[in-house]
Amino acid sequence: MANVAIIGAQWGDEGKGKVVDWLASRADIVVRFQGGHNAGHTLVVGNQTYKLSLLPSGVVRGKLGIIGNGVVLDPDALLSEIARVQAQGLEVGPHNLRIAENTPLILPLHPALDKAREAARGGDKIGTTGRGIGPAYEDKVGRRSIRICDLAEPETLSRKLDELLLHHNSLLKGLGAEPFEKQALLDALLELAPKLLPFSEAVWERLDEARHENKRVLFEGAQAVMLDVDHGTYPYVTSSNTVAGNAAAGAGIGPHQIGTVLGIAKAYTTRVGSGPFPTELFDDVGKRLGERGREFGTVTGRPRRCGWFDACLVRQAVKVGGIQGLALTKLDVLDGLTELKICTGYRIDGEVVKRLPAAAGAQAKAEPIYETLEGWSESTQGARSWAQLPATAIKYVKRIEELVEAPVTLLSTSPERDDTILVSDPFAD
Ligand code: GDP
Ligand code: IMO
Ligand code: MG
Repeated sequence: MANVAIIGAQWGDEGKGKVVDWLASRADIVVRFQGGHNAGHTLVVGNQTYKLSLLPSGVVRGKLGIIGNGVVLDPDALLSEIARVQAQGLEVGPHNLRIAENTPLILPLHPALDKAREAARGGDKIGTTGRGIGPAYEDKVGRRSIRICDLAEPETLSRKLDELLLHHNSLLKGLGAEPFEKQALLDALLELAPKLLPFSEAVWERLDEARHENKRVLFEGAQAVMLDVDHGTYPYVTSSNTVAGNAAAGAGIGPHQIGTVLGIAKAYTTRVGSGPFPTELFDDVGKRLGERGREFGTVTGRPRRCGWFDACLVRQAVKVGGIQGLALTKLDVLDGLTELKICTGYRIDGEVVKRLPAAAGAQAKAEPIYETLEGWSESTQGARSWAQLPATAIKYVKRIEELVEAPVTLLSTSPERDDTILVSDPFAD
């Protein structure tokens, strides 16, 4: 058995989509196990650019895609994403996309609550994507979710809507937002039922069959370790566990089936939304990274905050996420910088620490301690072998390996699918 789980090692947008697409050529099945359409994964294949939020990135390679029960699924977002990629020439239907029958749904009341809460936070916003992700996970844990399987049982659906609205309408009214009407929601769900139910099944059974048939499964993480609801920069996080361990619970497999864990990190750091970011740059270098890296959110279009590579943070992600190999992306964005900095630890209240503490106050005070390395003037854009890289770029990568305590097993040098350097195959047994 040679499965691989891919997770983000920073604050998201590391290039997971590109790496999953590239590795999907070696896999049979690609599984999403957490998050929802807050994710935005951009894949560039020749002159086509695919922007995926819910669909597993393997669909572009024609692989079987599975949406696991750990995902929160917005039916309208899914159907419009399917229509969008179909218009780009991809075939997506129940034959190549399966959705766990126990997947919780995002209903229109979830984004309404997400936005009302953010508005109520005033100047202390999380900076969510406004897609209803947090409220949908709250309902799952609160045992109120409408799940895809409920669409086949109109009576169950009606009863569950009563319970859900009792909860949500009180909250929405309290926040000064419009309450929802049951009949309109019920009608919309009953209309969606015949469109969604053909995709729904017990995916745990299919994954069990795949295991017996020695099929290769790629688990595609969304968001990243520093946005993990437990291990991230809480409360400025998303509402799911983004670490690879969640692939088991979020898909319905055993922990031993997760396989090799590959972490994806940019050669610098970005973050969308609020929250601590010790290596953030507010100068021309930060601006340059944003421009060269085209750092705008795929989902919301917001400019991403940019900064130096934080090895202390990624080392922490390696440890808590069980990352065995690192795919380093966007090395090309650093081309032309004469000097590069890597954060090796923080100074907090005059003390040197080698981890980002959990307390929000301490996180906000963390000042980066930097090591300076020589940059390179040559272009690394599109490099497909180590031989094409300048010596100082190789030195930079090697230093990152040492500091984060994980080998760099893959390097990416442009958005294009094949501009990738493989060091060791994560699917190799
Ligand atoms: P994800 O959320 O982790 O899948 O990442 P996104 O797709 O949201 O953001 C990564 C962006 O960087 C996308 O626009 C990719 O096309 C682009 N990208 C990925 N790898 C590279 C790379 O090596 N170099 C450059 N310049 N861009 C890259
Ligand atoms: P991918 O998969 C970057 C961030 C939001 C916000 C916080 C909470 O493309 O890497 P949420 O809507 O999830 O409740 O927002 O998490 N966030 C992401 N940032 N990439 C993502 O996904 C993200 N998904 C959520 O900006 O700070
Ligand atoms: Mg993204």
